[in-house]
Amino acid sequence: MPGKRVRPTVFFLAARSAGNGNSPLVTAGLAIEIIHTATLIHDDIIDGHTIRRGMPTIFSTWGNNVATIMGDFLYSKAFAILGEEGLFEIMRLLSKVTHLMSVGEMLQYQQRMNINVSEDGYLDIINKKTASLFSAACECGACLAENGNGHRRIYSGFGENIGLAFQITDDLFDFLAIEEVIGKPTASDFCDGKVTLPFITAFRNAPEEAKRRVKDLFSNGFETNENWDEVVHFVQNYGGIEYSLEKVKGFGERAKGCLKDVDPSPERDALHLAVDYIVDRVAPFSQ
Ligand code: IPE
Ligand code: IPE
Ligand code: MG
Ligand code: MG
Repeated sequence: MPGKRVRPTVFFLAARSAGNGNSPLVTAGLAIEIIHTATLIHDDIIDGHTIRRGMPTIFSTWGNNVATIMGDFLYSKAFAILGEEGLFEIMRLLSKVTHLMSVGEMLQYQQRMNINVSEDGYLDIINKKTASLFSAACECGACLAENGNGHRRIYSGFGENIGLAFQITDDLFDFLAIEEVIGKPTASDFCDGKVTLPFITAFRNAPEEAKRRVKDLFSNGFETNENWDEVVHFVQNYGGIEYSLEKVKGFGERAKGCLKDVDPSPERDALHLAVDYIVDRVAPFSQ
């Protein structure tokens, strides 16, 4: 199962919608996807996940050392190709964001096994670990458009909002989807000691008794599918799914709102469709 290549897609569309005519975009698009791939290789080591895109992960096949080197190889390759092409502003943006994503992963790691992470704390983490790359990808697009520089904030705002929607959707999949469909494990965030928006919301709404039970499952772990079903029901019963879906929609609308002053073009329409794709991705699982 291949990657979806969402980040280079929005990068290309942002560039064209911001007015890029024909100047070459492939190197920057490639660098964005290579950086994303490097984060996934390292992320799978941290999360200890053995399946990605329906295939065994690098670390589970060749071990942590090879996966660490492979991630570093890709990060450095991304910056090397940008340097070779003299794309220094893109390099500046992407190096800043690579740093920010690692801060996001560190913050998330620091909060492992903390069941009391707040919604704001969660949003801060996903902003850094995920939305920042979407934001930078779209800003890079504007940056590579003739006269696009004045629009950089518009596109970075657009990217940030779709990035937030994207990560919340991914976190919903953890509760709702099945591994064969998304090509990576489900039921994993909670089992790894990571609380995400659907759970954070339910935990905020639930009565003490129900909280005590999931707290116990969270702290002591569990073995059976029935226990996981209990967690999913908890999240459903106390509004975690509904609220997260609303948030996804809200960020999607905000993203579209960011483009309101952009001249109409097929690429701007396609960016709207990208928002719909991100927002609607979870719909089949949430009925
Ligand atoms: C996975 O990203 C990591 C998250 C930020 C949720 P994608 O869902 O874009 O992964 P691929 O590239 O399509 O496999
Ligand atoms: C995404 O976080 C990793 C980065 C953005 C670096 P997750 O851990 O939630 O992503 P998946 O679920 O493994 O794809
Ligand atoms: Mg992960
Ligand atoms: Mg995830």
